[in-house]
Amino acid sequence: MQPFPPGPPHVTNNPLTLLRYARGFSADPLGFVGGRFAQYGDLYATVFRGVPLYVTRHPEHIHDALVTHGQSMAKPEKGFGARQLRRFLGTGLVNSNGDFWRRQRRMINPAFGRRQIEALGEVMVRRTEALGDQWPGGPAVLEVGQEMMGLTLGIVAKTLFDHDASGQQDRIANALEQFRNFSGAASILPDWVPLPSVRRVNRALSDVNDVVYGLIDSRRKEDDDALGRRTDLLSALLLATDTAPGARSGERMTREELRDELLTLFLAGHETTSQALTWTWYLLSQHPEIEARLHAELADVLGGRSPTPADALPYTDAVLQESMRLFPPVTTLARVTTAPIELGGYSIPEGADVICWVYFAHHDARWWPEPERFDPTRFLPGRVESIPRGAYTPFGAGQRQCIGKHFALMEARLLLATLAQRFRLSLVPGHPVAKHVAVTMSPKHGMKMRVQRR
Ligand code: HEM
Repeated sequence: MQPFPPGPPHVTNNPLTLLRYARGFSADPLGFVGGRFAQYGDLYATVFRGVPLYVTRHPEHIHDALVTHGQSMAKPEKGFGARQLRRFLGTGLVNSNGDFWRRQRRMINPAFGRRQIEALGEVMVRRTEALGDQWPGGPAVLEVGQEMMGLTLGIVAKTLFDHDASGQQDRIANALEQFRNFSGAASILPDWVPLPSVRRVNRALSDVNDVVYGLIDSRRKEDDDALGRRTDLLSALLLATDTAPGARSGERMTREELRDELLTLFLAGHETTSQALTWTWYLLSQHPEIEARLHAELADVLGGRSPTPADALPYTDAVLQESMRLFPPVTTLARVTTAPIELGGYSIPEGADVICWVYFAHHDARWWPEPERFDPTRFLPGRVESIPRGAYTPFGAGQRQCIGKHFALMEARLLLATLAQRFRLSLVPGHPVAKHVAVTMSPKHGMKMRVQRR
């Protein structure tokens, strides 16, 4: 086994080196990392501030990192990104590790069972139809990214809390917006620095806590029978007990654990789906023949009625899968090794950072002929079987795979089917479309589209 893959010069703690690195990366993350893959190959390594860092785009490595060696990998707990996530989301599922994560996942999994998720389908369709009713009767220009964000935010708030007081939702939306916008300037400053940017984030955090603790406390006053009759995820989490043998077996989640999990589900559960839908509308607008085939399937299967979770819509699903291939809402998956592992013929020590670039695996001509072409038939029976493992991971893989995968796929399909039956969306001529890679991959300049009733 070889000791160290090729890679760029080490990044030391020298402030100038760090600044140069941060500037190069944040100006164009895809260009920066793509250039390195072109220079060094599928797996490159460096040492970043004293910690070995391995970066890969190869499906086999991605599969090995997430699945084969899943037990020897943890979510990062150090570094700016991880610290910020922890500050906002505490020890929720996305960033917890070890036995605590295992216990929480065990307790939350049942709420994401097929039957539980399908029961939420009606809320999703009703909310989408209500949005469609609000869209103008005649041709109009809308910022579709914002429309999708508002819709998926409303749906996740309703399905999590059975709550739709828009005033409070706006406070949550505002707090999350601040989190998303958290600027590089704040990264090197402690929380107590009296700068407007730091104060805004602190205020957002305190607003989110007020809203979520308020919801938990009022629901906690209900008895188990009343909670059992509810379909929202908050009630399911309030009733969840750990059934595995062990010290905390039979216990329920504390108020703080509930807060962290709810906020995690809230944040993880709307921005990603909204980005997937926004990119899908864009792609459909650029490919009339694919849009026509989608319309034909919807007419065939639904004939104008509202979709339900039970409807089989294979082409609609393939459109969404292919859209998430070209524009994966989550572009990278980060891990830290908790034991030495082997990756691509190299031995990787304990405590190393491993970054799996989902985006580059999704755009690689070796696994996807004509990788930049939007071609949903890649995901239809007959072709889908030949996708190599690890080459398509919009929801991750292995034990940390997205808990909301089926929720998201059903939601995206119901929303697309509901709106595409009633509207055609076309990109406003001249509107620039570019990728912005941050927590999720969003359109840098938004997505201004002309909306027309069909
Ligand atoms: C298109 C929509 C979505 C995409 C692309 C997506 C993507 C992902 C990915 C890639 C991961 C794994 C991260 C990693 O391995 O480091 C993940 C984890 C997670 N997602 Fe999603 N997600 C989506 C929707 C949702 C929804 C709707 C929910 C909840 C309602 C959700 C909740 C979570 C949670 C809690 C985790 C952490 C799971 C764990 O570590 O145990 N996601 N998601």
